[in-house]
Amino acid sequence: MNPVNTKPYSLPPDATWLITGCSSGIGKAIASLIATKVSSGQRLIATARDPSSLSYLPDDNPNILKLRLDVTSPKSVTAAFSDAAKHFGSNFRLDVIINNAGYSLSGDTESATEDETHKETETLFFGTARMTTAAIGVMRQAAGRGGIIFNISSLAGQCAFPGHAYYHAGKWAVEGWTESVAKEMHPDWNINFCIVEPSGVKTEFEGHSKAHTRPHPAYQGADMPARRLEMFVRKGIEMGMGMMEPSDIADALYKIASRGECVPLRLPLGATAWKMVKAKHEGALGELEKVKGISGMGQEL
Ligand SMILES: NC(=O)c1ccc[n+]([C@@H]2O[C@H](COP(=O)([O-])OP(=O)(O)OC[C@H]3O[C@@H](n4cnc5c(N)ncnc54)[C@H](OP(=O)(O)O)[C@@H]3O)[C@@H](O)[C@H]2O)c1
Repeated sequence: MNPVNTKPYSLPPDATWLITGCSSGIGKAIASLIATKVSSGQRLIATARDPSSLSYLPDDNPNILKLRLDVTSPKSVTAAFSDAAKHFGSNFRLDVIINNAGYSLSGDTESATEDETHKETETLFFGTARMTTAAIGVMRQAAGRGGIIFNISSLAGQCAFPGHAYYHAGKWAVEGWTESVAKEMHPDWNINFCIVEPSGVKTEFEGHSKAHTRPHPAYQGADMPARRLEMFVRKGIEMGMGMMEPSDIADALYKIASRGECVPLRLPLGATAWKMVKAKHEGALGELEKVKGISGMGQEL
């Protein structure tokens, strides 16, 4: 049983969606999809660090609001919520928020700087946490109308790979934090949480969005695990192996929001993600059995 989202969720016909990181990739695909629903009554708040990157959305529709938003800045988050409230007036509600903004810091963990690691966790975790907290406040005031908070994690929020330690740290923090906050909600508020865990998607994620630590001389051998993984990922991307389109993610999230069923707390997306998460849990069960004798400390398990 889903221990958190226990009631079916019904998307209101005039739902308002807020999405972070809409300049490219998954955020752009979701914003583009929701823009097509505006003529049937839904509303879109599309956000980006540089609002000129949102020129793919129409300028002349009052139900599409484009806002500047950098999730690492508390001031920017407060300003975006206040601008949205001003724009929609007494009609301001938030039904679905998609915390999508993020990037990967990759490379050798020993050479990662304080600055690089704090920026990564500030974006992935604190950005998601401050947006979620602000959204809960708005959703709570809508007297049971509630909503869905989609926090975009990753397959990397469940399984860890070499050479991405701080990316995993940020995504695992999102996972644990979201699960805890979801359990803090009163059921009558009808606020649902969904941690989204895609495997590879064809976006700017491996391109200009990616940050790299300085290569550490001790880790440069071709047999080092992170170098081998990089080679495997590069080949996979070149061959388009198992990579999803950003529109696949948009369609899946729209389906979860609109199908009138309970919202899953976790949603691996892509066959790779689903199989790897399953294998991880099965492996963990085996590991758990192996330590049973020690863990039990003489008690019956
Ligand atoms: N692509 C994949 O294979 C994959 C797989 C699993 C999970 N994800 C997750 O999916 C999410 C979207 O990534 P993507 O694949 O669509 O890559 P993307 O095309 O690089 O998009 C990332 C978006 O995040 C924005 N962003 C970064 N830092 C931000 C900040 N401080 N404030 C606001 N926006 C910020 C970027 O804006 P700028 O244009 O201003 O940089 C861009 O719009 C990320 O959370 C990523 O971790 C991706």
